Amino acid sequence: MNKTIGVLTSGGDCPGLNAVLRGVVCTAAKLDWKVIGFRDGYEGLLADDGHMELTLQNTEGIMQRGGTILGTTNRGHFVRKGGSGGRGRLDPVVIARTKETLARLRISALVTIGGDGSLSTSQQLFEAGINVIGVPKTIDNDLEATESSFGFDSAVACVTDALDRLHTTARAHKRVIIIEVMGRHAGWIALHGGLAGGADAILLPEIPFSYDRLADAVRAREKSGHPSTIIVVAEGARLAGGREHYHAAQSGEYRLGGIGETVAHELDRRINRPRLTKEIRTCVLGHLQRGGDPTTLDRILGTSFGVKAVDLIAEGKFGQMVSYQHSQVLNVPIASAVRRQKIVQTDCQMVATCRAIGISFGD
Ligand code: F6P
Repeated sequence: MNKTIGVLTSGGDCPGLNAVLRGVVCTAAKLDWKVIGFRDGYEGLLADDGHMELTLQNTEGIMQRGGTILGTTNRGHFVRKGGSGGRGRLDPVVIARTKETLARLRISALVTIGGDGSLSTSQQLFEAGINVIGVPKTIDNDLEATESSFGFDSAVACVTDALDRLHTTARAHKRVIIIEVMGRHAGWIALHGGLAGGADAILLPEIPFSYDRLADAVRAREKSGHPSTIIVVAEGARLAGGREHYHAAQSGEYRLGGIGETVAHELDRRINRPRLTKEIRTCVLGHLQRGGDPTTLDRILGTSFGVKAVDLIAEGKFGQMVSYQHSQVLNVPIASAVRRQKIVQTDCQMVATCRAIGISFGD
């Protein structure tokens, strides 16, 4: 073995993480490199028994499986929230302990697979002198500097499947069904899933909506002979002049969510007064979107990212993130990916396509 490299999966899991791990291990094996996987994200760097060797044997057959064999977390010592909600600096003691672990295990480079928060941490570790390569992961698809992150296609497939199912029951009962989907402050999952699943209205964080316009859209459908309506609402969607919806989580933290029920309530007030004319139901898709096996695309993207990460180590190009652009897997500085979130442009072609076929954005 002439080199040892480390790898970890960090932040919320998504389908395709295991494909990246397998891609890293297969490529490293060809170079006769040893791969150490850290458990539970960056936290594994701080625990004496927080790692395991990844081999061709123990990564065989994992590409097809969702989740991550290494475990992950979006909590812990490497997450720092700044005053404005942004990322603060890592504790110098945490950085020192990370360096100690890497030195003890003779790890010369670390592949970090994560979303914007995890990659911000990677950037800080790189600035502290650690040889880091970032791999973009998120179902939200909200990372700058890559056209796509793996996990997104699987999440969209889940939304599409859910809409297919909701259509049949909505039609049978002539109901309005609202489906709340993930995506944080970006509407990619809602937009792609809504278009592919034949939604009648899509509410995005990027296009503030009005309940009156949405009610108009439901009434218009009814008048033109469509007694059922499917509305996709992104968890980060908000009213014109309004705010995002949060609900208190068990931990006492506030998490995005709850907008679906509010939309149902407000539509009910507008459509069902003075008498009930339309039953309205809500479905929150939640973590189903993050679970399950990766799609074909996410298996290919994840594997390609894993291979590219090892190539970058071989070339000594650190502080770089693997990136998908124009059907090619390239590399960009990690810093360029975490500067700001990638959100849906309201004048983009896909929004125009939706409007062209009569999908309402409630605006
Ligand atoms: O960032 C991915 C994501 O699934 C978001 O779409 C969602 O808001 C969030 O993570 C949920 O995180 P958790 O699993 O910690 O509740």
